Amino acid sequence: MSERKPTSAGMYDYALGGTANTAAERRAVDAARRILPEFNDGIWANRGFVQRAVTRMASQWRVEQFLDLGAGLPTQRNTHEVVAEVIPHGRVVYVDNDPHVVARGRRLLPAAGNAAIVEADICDVDAVLSHPETRRLIDIRQPVGVIAAAVVHFIPDERDPWAVIRRYMGAVPSGSCLGLCALTSDRQAETVVDRMLRTLMFIRFHLRTRAEMTRFFDGLDIVAPYPGGPAEVVHAGLWGAEDLEAANDDGSHWFYAAVARKP
Ligand SMILES: C[S@@+](CC[C@H](N)C(=O)[O-])C[C@H]1O[C@@H](n2cnc3c(N)ncnc32)[C@H](O)[C@@H]1O
Repeated sequence: MSERKPTSAGMYDYALGGTANTAAERRAVDAARRILPEFNDGIWANRGFVQRAVTRMASQWRVEQFLDLGAGLPTQRNTHEVVAEVIPHGRVVYVDNDPHVVARGRRLLPAAGNAAIVEADICDVDAVLSHPETRRLIDIRQPVGVIAAAVVHFIPDERDPWAVIRRYMGAVPSGSCLGLCALTSDRQAETVVDRMLRTLMFIRFHLRTRAEMTRFFDGLDIVAPYPGGPAEVVHAGLWGAEDLEAANDDGSHWFYAAVARKP
């Protein structure tokens, strides 16, 4: 049993019912669940968003290649599996800066296959885009689905995550898509947020307002999250939801999400 410091990838994997996690990560998630009964629903709201957004990009807009920033690779229906359900020859490049995630990804993803993992900080846009695996799998002249789920909230304002996302979207052609989901405390009591952040204190979170989340999509066309819905950032569970009432639960209120297309 490893005693390494809990990581976001391991805690997330455990919260989703996976096996790629340590005892310390399980303890941290169990403590968070005691504070927040809706913890699991929140985690699933984010994960469900990723899967629904990728499915829509592949099926509706025929996006065949994806860059999944902050991959995590949890033990749950990952992006390349979701893409393959729609486009068997679809390609995915995962990016993560956690060496455990990268090692696991290399074990899971067959070498020279249609999916690969690149070890990099997503803020190092040039390193990601010029990496040999990225160049092998992604033709930057064709539309790319850029996924940034549960990752920009680890990047402080000083590192300007908005500029990072803008650079990725600047590098890809018209017709490319951005699917982004991240933590917010807009609907939470300050005391609950404080307790939560103290419980998970080995990780620094940067929770953002709706206006700050909307800025990630500057220059892009946000699509309606569900038929007849507003073309704007919504709570994650609502995106692509079939039953809006059931999807709009307390857990979902911890995340904002949207999908946008590059005009
Ligand atoms: C909570 S997991 C999210 C997994 C997946 N994107 C999802 O939403 O289902 C966050 C992942 O982002 C990675 N991460 C955090 N900051 C990063 C950075 N600056 N560059 C690359 N990866 C990062 C962590 O190592 C972790 O694996």
